[in-house]
Amino acid sequence: MSILTRILLLYVSPRMTKAYPKVSEEYALNIERARRKLRGLIAEKNCAPIILRLAWHGSGTYDQESKTGGPLGTIRFGQELAHGANAGLQIAVNLLEPIKEQFPDLSYADFYTLAGVVAVEVTGGPTVPFHPGRKDHETVPVEGRLPDATKGMDHLRCVFTKQMGLTDQDIVTLSGAHTLGRCHKDRSGFEGAWTPNPLIFDNSYFKVLLEGEKDGLIMLPSDKALLSDPNTRALVELYAKDEDKFFDDYAESHMKLSELGFAEAGQPGSV
Ligand code: HEM
Repeated sequence: MSILTRILLLYVSPRMTKAYPKVSEEYALNIERARRKLRGLIAEKNCAPIILRLAWHGSGTYDQESKTGGPLGTIRFGQELAHGANAGLQIAVNLLEPIKEQFPDLSYADFYTLAGVVAVEVTGGPTVPFHPGRKDHETVPVEGRLPDATKGMDHLRCVFTKQMGLTDQDIVTLSGAHTLGRCHKDRSGFEGAWTPNPLIFDNSYFKVLLEGEKDGLIMLPSDKALLSDPNTRALVELYAKDEDKFFDDYAESHMKLSELGFAEAGQPGSV
């Protein structure tokens, strides 16, 4: 890299980083207080998986073209919870509500996003950076933006890349969140956990995926699809071998997912 490029990067990069909104000192303190309460709740109820799924379904509706959807707190509304992909998530909303009531000034958008970050952390996963300042919206996104588990790579790229603006690497790292939790027949039609330790966030999802079908465990067609493409397969192999790399990349992808459409230049409140 030439000296000129280095100097340019030094001056230009900070300006290209996100313009996060400024929040009051009290708001920031309440985020930390809510974080502590969330740690307690998730540890007590062993509910990290469904809380993480709530946070992800609250963000994964982002559409970069229309700049609608994303982490705007709308998943609290019955209309969005009634979307087929969100079956069962009322449970997560209900679990979180007693804590949310203690922090009326926090936006639902921040609160659910924070809950997802805490769910990863308390189950042994990486620390995902969290920036507050999301505003709640009232308009529920149209149904059909979340991925369909019965489909393959083309569909995943349509949703993650074309719609949300994420990369192949994000698809693989974020799919690794299936290290937590399980499928429930009455919610998605599928049944079973991905790994033998569904309350621990580690890289076992990738190990099991490479080992192939096993009695008592599940792999969705959308999970197996990651093996069908040389690019995503190489990442699965990398993360199965190197948990530190998975944790670093997961934290980055999770943060991106939780900030879709947030703190874009020109958004009211951004600095
Ligand atoms: C790649 C596309 C994805 C598809 C097609 C997909 C599909 C599914 C399905 C069908 C379930 C089972 C729901 C149930 O029956 O309770 C599920 C559960 C889950 N998903 Fe995904 N998912 C995807 C990506 C993600 C991402 C990006 C995350 C988080 C970053 C995530 C986190 C979870 C978690 C934690 C559960 C377990 C929930 C529980 O145990 O209650 N998923 N997913």
